[in-house]
Amino acid sequence: MGAAPAIDWFDIGKMIVDPYPTFERMRREAPVAWVAAMKANVITRYDDVYFVEQKREVFSANVEGNLMPRVMGRATLLNMDGEEHMRERRLLNAPLRPKHLKEHWTETFKRNTSEFLESLAEKGPDQADLNRDFAAPLAAKNLADLLGFRDENANQLASWSADLIAGLGNVRNDPAIWARVEESRESIDEAIDRVVARVTKQPDASVTSGLVSAGMELDAVKSAIKLSLSGGINEPQHAITGIVWALEENPDQLAMVMANPELWQDVLDEYLRWMSPIGFAPRITLSDVELSGTLLPRGSLVANMFGAANRDERRYENAAKFDVRRPKQSHLAFGSGPHVCVGMWTAKLSVAGVAMPMLYERFDGLRRRSDDSSLWNGFFFRGLTSLPVAWDRDRGSRA
Ligand code: HEM
Repeated sequence: MGAAPAIDWFDIGKMIVDPYPTFERMRREAPVAWVAAMKANVITRYDDVYFVEQKREVFSANVEGNLMPRVMGRATLLNMDGEEHMRERRLLNAPLRPKHLKEHWTETFKRNTSEFLESLAEKGPDQADLNRDFAAPLAAKNLADLLGFRDENANQLASWSADLIAGLGNVRNDPAIWARVEESRESIDEAIDRVVARVTKQPDASVTSGLVSAGMELDAVKSAIKLSLSGGINEPQHAITGIVWALEENPDQLAMVMANPELWQDVLDEYLRWMSPIGFAPRITLSDVELSGTLLPRGSLVANMFGAANRDERRYENAAKFDVRRPKQSHLAFGSGPHVCVGMWTAKLSVAGVAMPMLYERFDGLRRRSDDSSLWNGFFFRGLTSLPVAWDRDRGSRA
């Protein structure tokens, strides 16, 4: 059993454009590889990535050097382990469970979707951009409402989220980014104070209210809300635009979904498998461990690549193909194990349950106005940076 081989063909620039050829080569030649540019051992096969997610006693989320506590002002769920993690996670699970969401948030998600369908329609089929006019503001507004922010608009939430994310990626220690992060964090903390004051007097169905009612301490509430803010906008946004792209590439599948709207949940899951919006999660080993015949000594940093695992041919036949009809098999786009995404049910309801069916019901012949594949970007957060769209008929317009 040898040490992880160092590879020099993991080129961050190329990964941002399209990580999948490198993932494929890594799964084949070096499934556990040391990548200097990431200062981590990169894991790419499905079985290994799943194992890392499950084995919490070996793979700790409390990774040294992680910028999360500095950005958020305190450790978050994503860098806690064991009982400490479970205590806060249980409280956050409650307001995000499927029954609660369905009962309290379906109407709000529908109202928000209608509002931004209107914005899209106003731009018209020559000017509309599905990302800018619909997916991005909708994802931000849904999250603002769900978390309990009432005084802030979608742009404010999106800008806060972008600042937190910039801080999480500020490995070069750019002081200008830290200044942005600190300013935004202060504003977010003040906004959360206002929400907490309101829901303490008048509880509601929001996440903040749920946490306060359950007795969570204020600094833990702030950490959970800021983490959700940084991780709950980009991915639903990318799923909406990415699904439109994928269905246009596969007109037979689009026709099938139009005829069977109950398939929207499968479409979302297949999209997430095919183009994982969050590429990886960092971990550190607490003891020596073997993965695919490679020894990772205690204290090894690991980048657990969901995006690579989700296209492993060992698990998925014809894995690079977007195929709604493929046999049902779970994927790792939401992670798995103790840190599995707590917003999974929110994404399922807001994107597959509401946004996608309403979008296609409203615009007949919805299609993109550009085939430019350079619109795809990123391998930590991956998605379309913009998606100009056109349509034949706006079924919502009275004209
Ligand atoms: C399509 C949409 C989404 C995707 C693909 C996604 C993906 C993920 C992934 C990969 C993780 C890390 C899992 C791990 O480390 O094992 C995660 C964690 C998390 N996500 Fe999401 N996410 C989505 C939507 C959301 C939304 C809407 C929210 C907020 C309501 C949210 C809040 C969180 C939080 C708080 C965690 C940390 C959980 C923990 O450490 O216990 N996510 N998500």
